[in-house]
Amino acid sequence: MVYTEKDRGYRRYTVTSALPYANGPVHIGHLAGVYVPADVYVRYLRAQGEEVVFIGGSDEHGVPITIKARKEGVSPQDVVDRYHKIIKESFAELGISFDIYSRTSSKEHHATAAAYFKKLYEEGKFVEKVSMQYYDEEAHQFLADRYITGTCPHCGNERAYGDQCEACGTSLNATDLINPKSALSGSKPVLKETKHWFLPLDQDEPWLRQWILESHKDDWKSNVYGQCKSWIDAGLQPRAVTRDLDWGVKVPIEGADGKVLYVWFDAPIGYISFTKQLKGDDWEKWWKSEDTKLVHFIGKDNIVFHCIIFPSMLHADGSYILPANVPANEFLNLEGDKISTSRNWAVWLHEYLKDFPGKQDVLRYTLCSNAPETKDNDFTWKDFQLKNNSELVAILGNFVNRTLVLTQKFYGGRVPAAGAWSEAEQELIKEMAAIPERVGRSIETYRFREALGEMMSLARLGNKYLTDMEPWKMVKTDAERTATVMNLALQVCANLAVLCAPFLPFTADKMHRIMNLQALGWRDAGRTDLLAAGHQLAEPELLFEQISDEAIQAQVDKLQATKEANALDAWQPAAVKAETTIDDFGRMDIRVGRVLECKKVPKADKLLQFRIDDGMGGRTIVSGIAKYYPEPEALVGRQVCFIANFPPRKLKGVESQGMLLSAEDKDGRLVLLTVGDEVTPGCNVG
Ligand code: MF3
Ligand code: ZN
Repeated sequence: MVYTEKDRGYRRYTVTSALPYANGPVHIGHLAGVYVPADVYVRYLRAQGEEVVFIGGSDEHGVPITIKARKEGVSPQDVVDRYHKIIKESFAELGISFDIYSRTSSKEHHATAAAYFKKLYEEGKFVEKVSMQYYDEEAHQFLADRYITGTCPHCGNERAYGDQCEACGTSLNATDLINPKSALSGSKPVLKETKHWFLPLDQDEPWLRQWILESHKDDWKSNVYGQCKSWIDAGLQPRAVTRDLDWGVKVPIEGADGKVLYVWFDAPIGYISFTKQLKGDDWEKWWKSEDTKLVHFIGKDNIVFHCIIFPSMLHADGSYILPANVPANEFLNLEGDKISTSRNWAVWLHEYLKDFPGKQDVLRYTLCSNAPETKDNDFTWKDFQLKNNSELVAILGNFVNRTLVLTQKFYGGRVPAAGAWSEAEQELIKEMAAIPERVGRSIETYRFREALGEMMSLARLGNKYLTDMEPWKMVKTDAERTATVMNLALQVCANLAVLCAPFLPFTADKMHRIMNLQALGWRDAGRTDLLAAGHQLAEPELLFEQISDEAIQAQVDKLQATKEANALDAWQPAAVKAETTIDDFGRMDIRVGRVLECKKVPKADKLLQFRIDDGMGGRTIVSGIAKYYPEPEALVGRQVCFIANFPPRKLKGVESQGMLLSAEDKDGRLVLLTVGDEVTPGCNVG
């Protein structure tokens, strides 16, 4: 029943999803890029009756975690314990159906990763090299990976890391960086000798070229294929797989004190060690049998590690299969800006689950229909609301609800027997029979948006069928035909319960419940006899509800507050203007005056009207600072500065004879300049 030629020979599937770093919670970018598509894929395969393991877990090593721990004054273990729990629980609540969600700080993982290294070491698969690495003399520490920042030699990004530039995606060695700087002390690091073990990727080039560029030309996504090709064409370099750090898997050989495995060496081995934890002695066939299909779901910043480095580790061992596919997605942006953990520019899964209880499928639907499969994409709250209100509620929910409510009303919830199918029914039945294959083919080729669209097309057809047939009218004139129409509409509902399950598992469960359905599998889809005549349905319930403007506005406001907080954090004094002269300054006639009166300008919410004693008989000045001085009378008596020689101009009908000086604070607030010591009104400022 698998639809694509290539997949027919497989007997089981090992599906992995990138192990998120346990240094923060999971956000919608992770979900849309990796976990939602991976979950759709495995749920579909299981519905097909395929044997699958779906592996997930937290990546708990690596420099970002130690940096965070250091900042907070806690241990790295504290950091990963905190986030592992949040991540694991929020994935479970969203229905990401891992068979295991483990962690790389576990004993079992350390043992597996160390043994993996040791075997390659003993077989001489590494090149041992003493090289010069950056060292922070203030912090007395080698600066691996993210402990060092500098300018990317490829794209000029000034915030590239020692292992990768996030702006252009290039993987780097710390010594490639221009102007390197220690992330620990900010000092300029020095080079110091240290011994490390390298994976000689340069020697892997011929088979990698053959394997990726020739055998996977047609079935890997073009973004993945393209990235691999440009790396291979640029020439692969040996890559160090050990680091001078104390957080990670200890290098299990003599003379390697103070060294751990590079996080990108140990983390993908997590896929293997977690399979072992799950399957015990039976684990090997999931990794070593040619009839197992290995698929890695990742984001685009992980491509080189999953397509080149990890395969070369697997190849070096020699007993493992290689990934059959690595469907990497591009990035999801949020309201037009790049998602960023450090800038808190994200929709966090655990917060979403709190703010929208019971609406897991709405998020799954939105992220799947917006998945950045071929290019970066944007998530907006407006679009989220639209997808819910005009697709889930108005199409899928409406069709199922209309059908079930009418069945209650006409038949007390019992499925009526169908008579002969007319032409309209035959057309719908034909489409319904074709849709499961279309959905399946799209999923098998990692086109999840398209698959979701195919599923929804059945709900659209069902809606149209009801609207065309109008059983609520027909029932008055033709009971027999109405029964046929309602029977078919109910069969469409049952089909939808099967087809939506990979995408919307909570909704599928609910549909099973309210239709009193046996658990159905993919092979049941397309049939018109899923509900037997006389079958009793349960009480109908709404599948989805409208999401209000207020709920959306609350989210938009939350983001706006983040934006403002970030702007304040990032505030810096404006650059000093071009040079000027004392003569230029002298042309401004600046004076001190005293506020005699101050009031709001009627019908202008921004403006205050001042009467100023200027020592020359008094003048009126209008100033746009009303927002910042809700009690204008309180300003009476203050000494202010004003420009006396601006031409008068009318503001909301009041003539303003000059301009009051004020300072703009970093949050945009205007503060009136006042003079502290007593000064005679009308004297000059200079
Ligand atoms: N922690 C990495 C990231 O978030 C992904 C690790 S995937 C694995 O980018 F293969 F290493 F496990
Ligand atoms: Zn770059």
